[in-house]
Amino acid sequence: MSTGLEKLLAASSGLEALFQQDPLGLSEVRRVQEQLREQERVLQSVRPYLEQSHRAAQELQRQADLMAQASSSLSVPNDLLREIAKQQEMSQKLAEQVTGSDIYKQIQQQIAQIESVRIGVLGKNGLLSQRLKGLGALPPDIRKLEGERVNRAKVELTEALAETNNDLERHAVSARLLYERVDVTLPGRRAERGGLHPITRTLDRSVEIFARLGYELAEGPEIEDDWHNFEALNFPPDHPARTMHDTFWFPDGRLLRTHTSPVQIRAAKGRTPPIRLISIGKVYRSDSDQTHSPMFHQIEGLLVGEDVSFADLKGTLTEFVRAFFERDFEMRFRPSYFPFVEPGAEVDIRWDREDGTTSWLEVLGCGMVHPNVLRACDIDPERYTGFAFGMGAERFAMLRYGIDDLRQFFENDLRFLRQFA
Ligand code: PHE
Repeated sequence: MSTGLEKLLAASSGLEALFQQDPLGLSEVRRVQEQLREQERVLQSVRPYLEQSHRAAQELQRQADLMAQASSSLSVPNDLLREIAKQQEMSQKLAEQVTGSDIYKQIQQQIAQIESVRIGVLGKNGLLSQRLKGLGALPPDIRKLEGERVNRAKVELTEALAETNNDLERHAVSARLLYERVDVTLPGRRAERGGLHPITRTLDRSVEIFARLGYELAEGPEIEDDWHNFEALNFPPDHPARTMHDTFWFPDGRLLRTHTSPVQIRAAKGRTPPIRLISIGKVYRSDSDQTHSPMFHQIEGLLVGEDVSFADLKGTLTEFVRAFFERDFEMRFRPSYFPFVEPGAEVDIRWDREDGTTSWLEVLGCGMVHPNVLRACDIDPERYTGFAFGMGAERFAMLRYGIDDLRQFFENDLRFLRQFA
C-alpha cells in the first residue's frame, strides 16, 4: 500500500517520543490509512465490471463500423447506435456510482489534512521550529544532542509527508481515471447523415426550373376557406365538381385545401398583370390507393398577361417536362374539365415500365384561366388572359425515379429514402 503513510507513522512515533505528545495526530494518520485501504478495495472490485462494460461498448462500436463499411453508406442502424450509447452511459454511471467522485473528493480532503499537519509541525511557527528556537537556551552538550534529534525528526517527517502526498496524488489520479475515463482509442460516434426527401427534391427542382422562366414563388395556407378553395375558382356552392374533390372538412366550414389552386387567387388578387407565379405544397383528399395518397404535393402555376394563348401553355409545359426529366417524354394533352379553366386539359406522360408494358400516367391538369376566376381576382378578363396548371409532384417523382407505388414516399422507410439522398 502506501509506504509514505508507513513512514509517516514511524516519523510520528519518533515525534511522540520527542515531545511526549502526539503532534501529528497519530490516530488521524491511521484513519487516513484505513480509508485508503477501503478505497483501494472498492476500486479493485469495481474495475473488472468497468472493464467488462467498456469492452462491450467497444465491441458494439466495432460491429457498427463493420456494418457501416458493409452497407457502403455512412449510416448504422439506429438501434445499434442506441445500444452503444446505452452501454457507454452504463459504464459511465457504474464508475460514478461506485468509485464516485466521492473517493476523489475524500483523497483531496486527506491531502489538505496532511498539509495542515505539515504546517502545524514544520511550519514557521510549527512545533519543530519552536523546539529549534528553544535550543539556544540549553546547555551546550544537551543542545548538540537535542539539535540532532530534532533535525533528524524534521528530515524524516518532511520525507514521509512528501511521500505520502505523492501516494495520495497517485491514488486520486487512479480514482479519477476510473470515473472520468476517456478512451482515446474508441472511434468517435458517427453523426447520422441526412438527405432530402425525393419529393422535396422534386419540388425544389420544379421551382428552380420555373424560376428560370421568370416565375416567382407564392405561398398559401393548408387550412383554407371555402371561398379560396372553391368559390373564387368558379365552383358555385352546389356545383357537382365539388364532389370530385373528396374534401376533408372542419366543423367550422373550413377545409384542408384540396389543391394548390387557391394560391392563384391569394397571390393574384388585386395585382396588375403580367403575373407569373408558381406555388408548391401539400394538398389533401380523402383518397388512398397505389396512385393516390390522402396527402400529396402539387406544383401550381399561373401566368396572366395580354395575348396569352393555349399555345403558350403547351410550350411552357413541354419545356418544363423536358427540363425536369432531362429527356423527351411523349406527352398527351387530353380535354378535361376543371371549373376554373376553359378550355381545360389533362396531361399524360407515357410511362414505359421495365417489364415492357406501357401506360399513360396523368401528371397534371391545366387550361386557360376562366374569366370568372380573373374577375374574382379583380383582373379585367376583357383585357387579360392567362393559363394555369397544377401538377402532381409525386407523379413527377415516380417517373423521374422509376417508382411504381406512391405510398413508398410516405412510409419513411430509410432503405427506400436513402437511395435518393
Ligand atoms: N387544381 C387542379 C387539381 O388539383 C389542377 C389544375 C390546376 C387544373 C390548374 C387546371 C389548372 O386537380
